[in-house]
Amino acid sequence: MSKDIEKVLLTEEQIEQRCKELAAQIEHDYEQENTVPIIVGLLRGSVPFMAELIKRFTFPCEIDFMSVSSYDGTESIGDVRIEKDMDLSSKDRAILVVEDIVDTGRTLSEVRKMFLNKGATNVKIVSLLDKPERRVVDIEADYVGFTVPNEFVVGYGLDYNQKYRNLPFIGVLKPEIYE
Ligand code: XMP
Ligand code: MG
Repeated sequence: MSKDIEKVLLTEEQIEQRCKELAAQIEHDYEQENTVPIIVGLLRGSVPFMAELIKRFTFPCEIDFMSVSSYDGTESIGDVRIEKDMDLSSKDRAILVVEDIVDTGRTLSEVRKMFLNKGATNVKIVSLLDKPERRVVDIEADYVGFTVPNEFVVGYGLDYNQKYRNLPFIGVLKPEIYE
């Protein structure tokens, strides 16, 4: 696994430290608003990040997951569809979407619209990574862990053809792996 990695961009320690800061900021904001959000992880890339965040929350919140269409290889598919919907109702609720990376922005833009259509009162986004160079839809996450360069990254939930999600760090794949 690690032998397929060209370079490590973010170590486990860096990610954990940043998650601590993000969790504190998020907690502070929801406490100020006095709302009980549903924290919705987008499967499957958000799982390690989601776990790292929610274990630090001490405010009341609910959690759920949903799955929307994702990458096939390293190219984005424009059309976003729900593959597995969440179980809780988002009507009249504050939603915090947890994502692994904002790339073109299409996924989160569609997901945000979908929640607002279903009657969510407020939709916020937290993304571990942001790759602004690739953006085609004008959307920003409310909370971002790290900004990354325009390279295909794996690890800490992020995959290449479903592999490497289990790596505890974020790295760049060797080009020969996907060429
Ligand atoms: P969009 O383009 O809609 O896509 O913002 C977000 C989804 O694209 C995937 N993605 C990546 N996955 N390494 C990955 O493993 C990457 O560098 C990368 N860039 C985008 C990811 O699934 C995300 O949810
Ligand atoms: Mg994803």
